[in-house]
Amino acid sequence: MEVYWYVFYVDGQYPWNAGKTRHVDRRYLKALGSAIDASGFHGALVATGAGGGWDPWAISSTLAAHTERMRFLIAVHPSLLSPTLLAKQAVTFDHLSGGRLDINIVNGHAGLGAAGVHLAHDDRYAHGDEYLEVYRRIVGGGPGPIDFKGKHLDIRGGQPLDAAIQSPHPPIWVGGSSDVAMDLAAKHGDVYASWAEPLEKHAAHIAAFRERAAGYGREVETAMTIHVVVRDTEEQAWAEIDSMLKHADQGSVDALQRGLRAGQSVGQQRALSLHSGQLPRHARDLEISPNVWTGYGLLRIGSSITLVGTPRQVADRLIEYHKAGVDKFILSHHPLPEEAMRVADDLLPLLPLSPVPGQREPAQRKARTFNNQLNGVGAK
Ligand SMILES: Cc1cc2nc3c(=O)[nH]c(=O)nc-3n(C[C@H](O)[C@H](O)[C@H](O)COP(=O)(O)O)c2cc1C
Repeated sequence: MEVYWYVFYVDGQYPWNAGKTRHVDRRYLKALGSAIDASGFHGALVATGAGGGWDPWAISSTLAAHTERMRFLIAVHPSLLSPTLLAKQAVTFDHLSGGRLDINIVNGHAGLGAAGVHLAHDDRYAHGDEYLEVYRRIVGGGPGPIDFKGKHLDIRGGQPLDAAIQSPHPPIWVGGSSDVAMDLAAKHGDVYASWAEPLEKHAAHIAAFRERAAGYGREVETAMTIHVVVRDTEEQAWAEIDSMLKHADQGSVDALQRGLRAGQSVGQQRALSLHSGQLPRHARDLEISPNVWTGYGLLRIGSSITLVGTPRQVADRLIEYHKAGVDKFILSHHPLPEEAMRVADDLLPLLPLSPVPGQREPAQRKARTFNNQLNGVGAK
């Protein structure tokens, strides 16, 4: 099992509430990167809006210079960047970060029109298919020049690049829940990523995906994004959810839901179907099974599901998803730096993590207690 955290340029204790966001700048992001780098996470997803917001390559380049081992899963909308330029950025970043790049291909669901991209849902994935075909030939170091004529791309005399550190190229993740997303990942991806669904549905989704990948003669790893609220006691964890809801108002929830419903994302529609769009009277009204809460989708875009409880309870739920076939997890909760440290301290040591390059095992980290450090102090 591998665990990634989350890097974003909007943060705070309750970032869906304008009064509870923080000023995010270079120093803030450095603190977040250091928290991730110093703990048991494999890396972080560096997300991006299709329209506005900050650029994930610039954020990742800055953090790569201040960190040693965390991996950067950088979101890329294929329709916003030529495959040749992506190849150049990927090879350069992979070299300068010491082989710490993962690419997350996201085909987008809203905001692309503002960038002049008006492709419908399935056409975006058809474009993505041609795009990854070209991209893989350019970064794969094969023979050139590369000519490719498809419905969306017309490349003449493309030049293959010298190899990246990671061979044959930095891992390609493909995100989405629709059939066409699964197909794109099955054909081109090293990892297929989707937003968390309730356990049984998620297990069925992964099984269907693996069959699709087998149809292409491929084995592809899977990843899932999910929120986690971990506290010492169950009561404290649910009190945190109550507090999140107290800092939300129905007007803002309605505005967000209208925008999300208008989008074309299959994954988003599934996330929306897990709640009624109304802030609940009691947080646990949206607990669909033990420790599984679906209210996050009222507040933020993306997955609705949050695992809520003690470290042991949340670890057990994550292990259930792992047994159902999820290889990699992208976890998050705000504020991102503090929650990263909490999750690293309390949750990660309970998970069957695969070794993180350059990192001691969690058990060894645990053994280095405060009292051990104090041995001898004051004995002179
Ligand atoms: C793991 C993961 C990360 C994503 N990150 C982003 C992102 O950074 N920016 C973005 O605009 N969309 C992001 N998306 C959403 C995708 O762009 C896409 O809209 C979504 O997965 C819906 O596609 P579908 O209709 O195939 O379900 C992400 C999706 C997943 C699964």
